[in-house]
Amino acid sequence: MCGIVGLACLPGRIVNPARAVRKSLEKLEYRGYDSVGIAVIFNGKIIIKKGRGKIHEVHSKFNFDGTPGNTVIGHTRWATHGAPSDANAHPHSDCLGTIAIVHNGIIKNFDELKKALIKKGHVFHSDTDTEVVSHLVEDFIRKGLKPYEAFKEAIKKVKGSYAIALITAYEPDKIFFAKKDSPLIIGLGDGFNFLASDIPAFLEYTRRIIVLRDNEIGYITPTNVVIENIVTEEKVNVQSRVRIVNWTPEMAAKAGYPHFMLKEIHEQPRALNETLLGLGPEINRAAELILKADRVFIAAAGTSYHAGLVFEYYLAKLPGIMSHAFISSEYSKYSKIADSNDLLVAISQSGETIDTLMALRLFKENGAKVISISNVIDSAIPRESDLTVYTRAGPEIGVAATKTFTTQVLVELVLALKIAELEGTLLPSEYNEKLSTLTKIPKVVEEVILKNEALALQLANTLSYKNNIYYLGRGLGVPIAKEGALKLKEIAYIHAEAYPAGESKHGPIALVEKDFPVLFVVLDDENKESIVGNIMEMKARNAYTIGLLTYGNDEIAEKLDFTFTLPRQEYFISPITYTPILQLIAYYTAVKRGYDPDKPRNLAKTVTVE
Ligand code: M6R
Repeated sequence: MCGIVGLACLPGRIVNPARAVRKSLEKLEYRGYDSVGIAVIFNGKIIIKKGRGKIHEVHSKFNFDGTPGNTVIGHTRWATHGAPSDANAHPHSDCLGTIAIVHNGIIKNFDELKKALIKKGHVFHSDTDTEVVSHLVEDFIRKGLKPYEAFKEAIKKVKGSYAIALITAYEPDKIFFAKKDSPLIIGLGDGFNFLASDIPAFLEYTRRIIVLRDNEIGYITPTNVVIENIVTEEKVNVQSRVRIVNWTPEMAAKAGYPHFMLKEIHEQPRALNETLLGLGPEINRAAELILKADRVFIAAAGTSYHAGLVFEYYLAKLPGIMSHAFISSEYSKYSKIADSNDLLVAISQSGETIDTLMALRLFKENGAKVISISNVIDSAIPRESDLTVYTRAGPEIGVAATKTFTTQVLVELVLALKIAELEGTLLPSEYNEKLSTLTKIPKVVEEVILKNEALALQLANTLSYKNNIYYLGRGLGVPIAKEGALKLKEIAYIHAEAYPAGESKHGPIALVEKDFPVLFVVLDDENKESIVGNIMEMKARNAYTIGLLTYGNDEIAEKLDFTFTLPRQEYFISPITYTPILQLIAYYTAVKRGYDPDKPRNLAKTVTVE
């Protein structure tokens, strides 16, 4: 987590480089926002401005924009080692103030390195793991090494995960970088170059990018990029790695919405449409790989795990394939199980979630094939997979996943249908018919949002005073309920629990008393009658019952205290059409309770530490 930025530019090429870096950090604030800072080289000296707080707070205290200089690094922090404080805010320096470093990741052996450096007389100013790197570089420079050589030697000593940008007063036009297990991307300009944790940071300036790979190290200047592999010492052919992204700066802006999350909820029809249009031959290849495998495992975290549960359901119900979805941080359980006839589907919007990456590596080491579903081109998980199917949701800035969930589900649905067709469960004509249903989804989602947004706001007024809520479903309704509960929990800070509706009588119903809210996801599937029974048992305990169901289910609606209705549809598209309503309920409840849904406390968008 944490966001880092570096900008090296020729004088005048970007009018105010410090301001540009501050604006870039604002684009990365979703990665962490407990403290922020910048370091600039000016007249051979390093100026550092940093402090605890959000960017606008620290900026109004120090005026980042008024810092002259053309080589700038910046950082927005999500604390791991050392509490959020002015001293622990990045950048960190060495004893002489000639080095400044920003870092995303964790230096696992920092304690032993720090002790050794203190013994040598180094004086530390923070509790962070990061500061050891600047002192290590200082140490090697004192021994007579040139800055880049000193940086390389320092990086060879550290263990853990890192995306690092470092500047020294000795070579003022260079920003040194190193990457392992944390994302780092170069943005190439004309007379300037950027480094950043994510593409939106520099989209306003360039769409030409290089996604750095693990163990790559090097430096940027305003006009040059040098990359090599620190393990093999091979130089990288920089030109061969350049990619053009099709994201635009507008995609990474709020476009008049009060929050990114609301914008991203509303963007779902477009994101779904583009994802569908963007699918190509990789769907066939993925379907073939799944059919070839003896066993299919699905690994993901958070919202992507819920998409994984949906995929498990689709595989069971459409082609009739047994699979197993698991939370990726639990990957070690499979060390003796995974083998070369298995296939792992790794789902990650960011493509950088460390737990999912570790699960992927475990399966690969055991010889399994890996397919990933991701939203970020060339990110770590796609790069290490045998095949990737990309969603085309565009950048998602809000910490709460919205459009990336529904687009992941869409990809899974197409894939499951394709498998069913290849193995003969679906006739080609049936397959084509189902696909044509999918082309209507963006319109359905648009209508669902239009008809239910005001209702979500109305329900939020009630929910905002509650401390607990159950989200219940059956079958495919369970992952939908889980996703709804996660949204409410993470942004509105209300305890929300989701479980299969049939489980109530086995324990959870003991908590239900008058006005306890219970939300039901009612699908037009084989479970409808049973779920009506579950509504009745909650009503009998005077629960406050809320339901999502399609038009024409008036008898069920009458049993509910609050109803959201959707167009009639094939039940298997419901994770895509029902979930936006749950996203809206969570969004408006968070706002009503006075919280910023884009920046939930203690959370960051991309979890790159175990
Ligand atoms: O980038 P990923 O899909 O791998 O991220 C997984 C989770 O960290 C993510 O879905 C998280 O749960 C979101 N905050 C949920 O809204």
